[in-house]
Amino acid sequence: MYKKGPWWARARAFFTDPLNFSVNNAAELGPVFETPVPFRRVFVVSGPEEIQKVLQSNHKNYHKSPFYNALKLALGNGLLNSEGNYWKQQRKLMQPVFYKSALHGLYLDMKSETENYMEWLKMELTQNAHFDLAKETMRITASIVLQSLFSSDAPLSRDEMYKMMVELQEYVMMRALSPQKFPLALLKGQHHRFLKYRRKIDDALYQMIDKRAKETDPPHDLLSMLTFARDAETDEGMPREAIRDELITLFAAGHETTANALAWIFRLLAANPEKEAILQKEIQTVLGARLPEMADFKDMPYTRAVIEEGMRLYPPAYAVGRLAIHDDEVGGFHIPKKSIMFLSIYALHRNPEIWEDPNSFRPERFLPDAPAIPRNAYMPFGFGPRKCIGYQFAMMEMQLLVPAFLQNVHFTFPEKWPEPQTLITLRPKGGMKVVINRRM
Ligand code: HEM
Repeated sequence: MYKKGPWWARARAFFTDPLNFSVNNAAELGPVFETPVPFRRVFVVSGPEEIQKVLQSNHKNYHKSPFYNALKLALGNGLLNSEGNYWKQQRKLMQPVFYKSALHGLYLDMKSETENYMEWLKMELTQNAHFDLAKETMRITASIVLQSLFSSDAPLSRDEMYKMMVELQEYVMMRALSPQKFPLALLKGQHHRFLKYRRKIDDALYQMIDKRAKETDPPHDLLSMLTFARDAETDEGMPREAIRDELITLFAAGHETTANALAWIFRLLAANPEKEAILQKEIQTVLGARLPEMADFKDMPYTRAVIEEGMRLYPPAYAVGRLAIHDDEVGGFHIPKKSIMFLSIYALHRNPEIWEDPNSFRPERFLPDAPAIPRNAYMPFGFGPRKCIGYQFAMMEMQLLVPAFLQNVHFTFPEKWPEPQTLITLRPKGGMKVVINRRM
């Protein structure tokens, strides 16, 4: 047990600054240590082998941590939250939606959404140059995921859907991170607003699901893929409630993570102009002014390396939580059942024993001819059977959006480095202020 200072100060440090808390204490105490939290036993884990044990070799002993229960309020029993046989069956049904072959079709939509967004942004720039980059990356990734989910079928407008989803997420975050504020939320009507929005979104989703099930020539989007997915053995499809939960889960899991990754990547590039110059050269040489096709990705290793290095330093899912079902042993520690395992991806990615000069931005680490990354040392998308189902979707989206922004605009950031905020994903606190100029 980590024993420096009074327990309540340590517990407070864990909740208020989990990033530095896990990095600093891991350096002193090693890859597993226990931290005091009232009514719970909590272990912070940041070693590659130790995380691997929890997420892969002994994953059956771990469920998602109670934190995910709050997410259930909005997302229901979608892939992110479900457990056991139900999860296994849903994952099997949904996997083909994310096969490379299916992603080809979705990429066309991603590209046209990106073109529309860039046109919109350039128009906006004639009026105003001051933006919150985190909001902008969220705007485009939300458009992309909504288009990929529903094509143009949505009975609610994009803006309406987006606004309500943001409200749902904010509310869920409050319930997950500050449950003591719940009575206040009741008084302030926040809870009733949440229920109203959830009902409105559900009505819209069910309307779309029912309509789609009757279509003979359905569009190629995730809604169709989920509606018409059949189990290879039983030939059974998903009930509409399950489709609803998966749609809303894909929306929530599929845009904020990518948006935050992009915002940090652009900030890191601006702070490292020599790296940005190498990236610009690759974009110029391979693409010129056009957007990438999927076939271009193999010729753009530096672009991919920039994205990977960005997510090493600022992993959008900075930690993954698990609950031990039975007693276990991890890294020499006895883990009693019901313990919470706080798997710090952030501390893993900044471990000086694994990464040389861990805090500096060096995309070269990820180039194909660089020394191999040590086993299990890099996992922005998680690991094991519950690894992110959308990781190829996210990678292709970022390999499209990084060049698209840099071909069209130039960013100037204030000198002050944005503070990372540990909400569900790793956001820049208070947004990421930027001045955007059109590239000539
Ligand atoms: C940079 C972008 C992304 C990052 C960093 C990311 C990260 C992660 C991580 C770490 C997990 C594992 C969580 C755990 O083990 O508890 C996860 C799961 C998941 N992600 Fe992502 N994700 C990204 C993008 C996406 C996208 C684009 C989609 C969908 C379109 C998506 C859908 C999901 C789903 C459904 C799960 C649950 C999978 C399961 O448990 O079977 N994610 N993601």
